[in-house]
Amino acid sequence: MEKFIIKGGKPLHGEVVISGAKNAAVAVVAATILSDQPCVLENVPEIRDINACVKILYEMGASIKIIDKNTIRIDTRGITDPVVPYELARACRGSSYFLGTLLGRFHKADVPMPGGCDLGDRPIDQHLKAFNILGATHTIDGGVVSLRADSLVGSQIYFDIVTVGGTINAMFAAVKADGLTVIENAAKEPQIVDLANFLNSMGADIMGAGTDVIKIRGVKYLKGVTYGIIPDPIEAGTYMVAAAATKGDVVIKGVIPKHLESITDKLRKAGATVEEFDEAIHVKAEGRLMKTSFKTMPHPGFPTDMQPQFSTMLSTADGVSVVTDSIFDNRFRYVNELRRFGAEVTVEGTTAVIQGVDELKGATVKATDLRAGAALVIAGLMANGTTVVEDIYHIERGYENIDDKLRALGADIERVNYYDKSRMAV
Ligand code: EPU
Repeated sequence: MEKFIIKGGKPLHGEVVISGAKNAAVAVVAATILSDQPCVLENVPEIRDINACVKILYEMGASIKIIDKNTIRIDTRGITDPVVPYELARACRGSSYFLGTLLGRFHKADVPMPGGCDLGDRPIDQHLKAFNILGATHTIDGGVVSLRADSLVGSQIYFDIVTVGGTINAMFAAVKADGLTVIENAAKEPQIVDLANFLNSMGADIMGAGTDVIKIRGVKYLKGVTYGIIPDPIEAGTYMVAAAATKGDVVIKGVIPKHLESITDKLRKAGATVEEFDEAIHVKAEGRLMKTSFKTMPHPGFPTDMQPQFSTMLSTADGVSVVTDSIFDNRFRYVNELRRFGAEVTVEGTTAVIQGVDELKGATVKATDLRAGAALVIAGLMANGTTVVEDIYHIERGYENIDDKLRALGADIERVNYYDKSRMAV
């Protein structure tokens, strides 16, 4: 197993280039199943979650060519059996997208319930509702979701809650259905717009992505294209926060500043200086940051995927910050680990109260999920002394070369192998 050893207390300085967006890439990779020709995907981040999705395609019979580290050619015409292998589906949350894409192409799908970050209960009732409305039936047996449809017919889908995955799966099932589908109360996250752009470039007819009403007129054929994934707003936000948290001065390059507005706004409220350029953001902070309260919301609100990192930054801010995150049940699990650094945080239900302390002290901690892991790395960069972050495989699910990128910004971070006795069979 691998861990990070961080000698903290050094401000980050310099430039960092952001990789392709994990949550857009998982959807776009799965979407290649709907294409009638090979596709070349560019700016694909080299991270575990994407590797897991590409492996699912390969195991199902797709032909995959890695053109370079971030460019993949995918030809899914060889897939004949719409069944996702169990152990691969468990490896990533994005595997739920194979429900929509396989249903859209084969009118049939057998997909084990998805894995991914343990953020508490992650139901797919809204996904199933959308599939049912479009004409599919579903059964769940032994943890495997099976969908069957004689035909898929466009219809009106109203989501009871705003769901990113549900919206994407409804788009997949509708894109080759007969007639018009209208998705209401749709999610508006950047990855939904990116996916719609990808599908439209192949010949789909999707309008309104990025608003809460998406209209999709089914088409019969989708051609192969070359498509570049958008930059990752959460990776960008993580470096923005790391820069401010270490009182650093960092230019974050290759980003879409519009996607980062809620983070920019809160960073400015906390006292950081944030300058926006066409494709870059400059974050600088001096002196102690100020308490800042916020609540996570679906896009364009403050993203739940940035809550652990931002809350960690606030652990040394002046005053008491109140943070509410009710999107998932388990998004405050990292707080126990954060307390090891000397942070004073109490959690009551979906709200954390953070009493800023003067400084964090290095600690040995375990990443409990992807964003929690990123937050603990930030805590290590802020802390005086040495921090050890274990279970970094969680972090590698979503951050490309995080240690190299941080080292280039002046961080003292080292990746080492270790032997974890607690995981060995006796
Ligand atoms: N929900 C339901 N029923 C459903 C679907 C969702 O009740 O059928 C609930 C969820 O339990 C949650 C809320 O709706 O309370 C929102 O969930 P959503 O479906 O929007 O989340 P998701 O599609 O499972 C994606 C990202 C997450 C990100 C959320 C929210 C991917 C692969 N994952 O998850 O990303 O936190 O949207 O923005 O796109 C991460 O990158 O670290 C991550 C967890």
